Amino acid sequence: MEESLPNRDRIPAHVAIIMDGNGRWAESRGISRLRGHRAGLQRVRDVLRASNDLGIQYLTLYAFSLENWNRPKTEVDGLMSLLIEYMERELNEVDRNGIRVRAIGRLDRLPGRVQKAVENAIERTRENSEMTLTFALSYGGRAEIVDAARKMVLDAERGTLLPKSIDEKTFRDYLYDPTLPDPDLLIRTGAEVRVSNFLLWQIAYAEIHNTNVMWPDFQKQNLVDAILDYQGRERRFGMTGSQVREGGS
Ligand code: FPP
Repeated sequence: MEESLPNRDRIPAHVAIIMDGNGRWAESRGISRLRGHRAGLQRVRDVLRASNDLGIQYLTLYAFSLENWNRPKTEVDGLMSLLIEYMERELNEVDRNGIRVRAIGRLDRLPGRVQKAVENAIERTRENSEMTLTFALSYGGRAEIVDAARKMVLDAERGTLLPKSIDEKTFRDYLYDPTLPDPDLLIRTGAEVRVSNFLLWQIAYAEIHNTNVMWPDFQKQNLVDAILDYQGRERRFGMTGSQVREGGS
């Protein structure tokens, strides 16, 4: 059977992914959870390549949540090591492909060596413009909103922000990365149907695609299927279907 291909003219500009299921994938094979994360890291490489091939401009990956700090120390340490490994080993290929690396989250909580590796990747790829790869690290959506509110209050106290001038656009300027557009498509693997504190502000109008596939099994075809699902939907942004079809009036 011929696989259907996504319409190249309607590729979502920004795809965000909750990469869930590494632990269950590993447990079902009787191997350590860390080996599941390592298999998951391989999928990060593949999915980045596939996203680049498909013409996705922004890929945002939920690599480590604020809640993940509560996992056993060995698992947290293992994930931190994998992050460093990724930032060091993949950087050449990422850079060669014109991909810009960014990170969002409470990055100051990351161990110094992880912060260094992340900063180095961001710095080295700063001028790239082919695609943007953002890692959510030590990230929580509510924390992001709280951090934005704090920064706004500080600016208001300093007199550089007038409370009456605050609107949604101003608020966005205080998020971790104001240049990051809202995701068009949010994918969650691992058979759970939850948002799990990911990009709460930014996913207001995102289309959500859930799959039972565990992240270490996620293939290019699964990404294509998610895009086909997205392309089969009508995005109305609160308008009626006929308004959308008439061009948004
Ligand atoms: C969820 O699986 C995944 C994570 C907590 C971390 C995501 C990490 C990776 C994909 C690998 C490392 C990636 C980078 C970029 C370093 P889970 O452990 O919650 O799975 P479970 O729900 O089955 O237990």
